[in-house]
Amino acid sequence: MVDRMRQAQLDEWGGPEVLHVVDDAAVPEAYPGHLLLETISIGLNPVDWKTRAGSGVADQLPASRPLVLGWDIAGTVVATGHDSTGFEVGDTVFGMAGFPGLGNAYADYVAVRAIDVAHAPTDVDPAELAGTPMVSLTAWQALFAIAELVAGQKVLIHGGAGGVGHMAVQFAVNAGATVFATAGPSDQQFVTELGASPIDYTKGDFADHIDKVDLVLDTIGGKVFTRSLDVIADGGRIVTTPDPSQLDIARRRGIRADWVFVHPDQAQLTEIAALQSAGKIHTRIDRRFTLAEIAEAHAYGEQGRAHGKIVVTPR
Ligand SMILES: NC(=O)c1ccc[n+]([C@@H]2O[C@H](COP(=O)([O-])OP(=O)(O)OC[C@H]3O[C@@H](n4cnc5c(N)ncnc54)[C@H](OP(=O)(O)O)[C@@H]3O)[C@@H](O)[C@H]2O)c1
Repeated sequence: MVDRMRQAQLDEWGGPEVLHVVDDAAVPEAYPGHLLLETISIGLNPVDWKTRAGSGVADQLPASRPLVLGWDIAGTVVATGHDSTGFEVGDTVFGMAGFPGLGNAYADYVAVRAIDVAHAPTDVDPAELAGTPMVSLTAWQALFAIAELVAGQKVLIHGGAGGVGHMAVQFAVNAGATVFATAGPSDQQFVTELGASPIDYTKGDFADHIDKVDLVLDTIGGKVFTRSLDVIADGGRIVTTPDPSQLDIARRRGIRADWVFVHPDQAQLTEIAALQSAGKIHTRIDRRFTLAEIAEAHAYGEQGRAHGKIVVTPR
């Protein structure tokens, strides 16, 4: 077992250039309750670049430097800590490590809490695995844990081709809901294939193209949130992902409104892995980078042009 590894660190908040890769970082230990993973693939999310720039979950991270970002990971267990039950050396696992604390995933090896990861399906591309945890857990917690979506309900998903949105569309379709999804012109076909009725958000007001729904999942915020309040049926509700700042606007109109703040959940991830393995959900990959290209991956991601997940493989 090597004792030095590559790791992408940052010493200050800022642009993508603050991320720098060192090759002599200490390989962490498998602390009690933890697994030491050899990284197969790392998934990036908007919170990665928001945090790197000093917002996101920056205020939840320690003041010590350097910091290592990255939460979504797929890896092979190379050591097990005391009390990390259910896993063995050689297992492939995936999960959202440590969120919203330090994830440390931008590295060749990562020590993760065993409860943050699940056994990975063996028949799924590792890039898909690493791209799955945060977006799928967010969608799952919004639709099922918060909104208690059931078969037969009508749901509108904003940003249906995005990371969270495409997971939510697949989960809601799978749960027997009637699903409408807003997406850009080039993603109309994509969301249709996932099982949603597409609405092109660039062509006028989405509210003109939909009757009342029981639930809106808003992954966009701002005016999309406020306009959505007009398409919610009596007794319906809205769950939003970007921030909680507009919840009171909905509540003043008598609409149940929640912000989802994703948390690791091994049981949910295990159910998601089963759906993945059964071919019932897929994670769309846009582009792959290497760890040495982590700054480019951030620069690309924060342009907001990706159609699918951005993943980073060690080499
Ligand atoms: N609170 C939490 O726990 C939590 C967890 C995960 C994510 N989030 C937040 O949720 C948001 C979405 O995350 P994500 O990972 O899904 O991002 P993403 O992969 O970048 O997806 C965003 C999607 O929204 C689409 N879009 C942009 N403007 C739109 C509009 N006006 N109407 C409909 N669709 C529009 C984009 O389409 P185009 O390609 O056409 O631009 C893109 O497909 C981010 O703000 C993220 O930080 C929060």
